[in-house]
Amino acid sequence: MRPRIICHMVSSVDGRLHPSRYTVPAAGVDGARLRRHYDEVSARFEAQGWMIGRVTMQEMAKGSARDVGSAGVASREPFVGDRKDRDLAVAIDPHGKVHYGQDNVLGDHVVAVLSEGVPDAYLAELREDGVSYLFAGPDGRDLGRAMEALGETFGIETILLEGGAGINGAFLKAGLIDEISVLIQPAVDGLAGVESIFGYQGEPGERPGAGQSLRHVSTETLEGGLVWLRYQVEDAPAT
Ligand SMILES: NC(=O)c1ccc[n+]([C@@H]2O[C@H](COP(=O)([O-])OP(=O)(O)OC[C@H]3O[C@@H](n4cnc5c(N)ncnc54)[C@H](OP(=O)(O)O)[C@@H]3O)[C@@H](O)[C@H]2O)c1
Repeated sequence: MRPRIICHMVSSVDGRLHPSRYTVPAAGVDGARLRRHYDEVSARFEAQGWMIGRVTMQEMAKGSARDVGSAGVASREPFVGDRKDRDLAVAIDPHGKVHYGQDNVLGDHVVAVLSEGVPDAYLAELREDGVSYLFAGPDGRDLGRAMEALGETFGIETILLEGGAGINGAFLKAGLIDEISVLIQPAVDGLAGVESIFGYQGEPGERPGAGQSLRHVSTETLEGGLVWLRYQVEDAPAT
């Protein structure tokens, strides 16, 4: 069974996702206090891991490409490293572009979600790093299958989907988001074209959320004026 997926994001009041671009806090509001809310709210979900897109993971991973050969890794079965009871740091990386150099990111055990077409040598590099991996079909875009494999392989019940825009949009389009949790900073970006928290790369006129509805769960105003919104995602009512 796939885990429950909660898309948990920080947003400006205009829905943008780059906190470094936001207006600064008002006089007397502590910016560090605002930033701490994200992790504190994350902990309240008691998830067993977090999940991000390839672009975001490339900003966080520390490794670089190297040649370790490819002996013994022709199979496209999931590989499970030594998780040691750690939470999971899951990267959706269809082409195998991210290099880790270790088995964790921010202390959490890395699981790479790949296409079956990645080179054997890349799988060998992940094994040498102790990174776990599993597959999302021939082109790496079958997110439903990957989430089933994630649930079955690691036995996790809840995972946080933490961006960026592209991967959040892909999960929305696939109907795989169970809940949306947004922390709205008292801040604005304002520039046209800056990514919002959902950014599915589709055709003009396409509606990635079609067939789904959001049901309000709760609203909390946190210290410093940050507003935490929770919505359950459910099938849209028949029309
Ligand atoms: N405000 C926040 O809290 C927050 C949180 C996270 C990230 N961010 C920021 O967001 C930016 C990155 O966002 P982004 O939208 O450019 O990238 P992203 O969502 O991190 O990654 C997008 C990548 O995921 C892969 N992907 C997309 N759709 C897929 C699908 N259907 N199946 C499998 N793989 C798929 C593609 O990888 P390939 O290109 O390799 O095919 C795509 O380029 C960063 O600058 C980061 O700092 C902000």
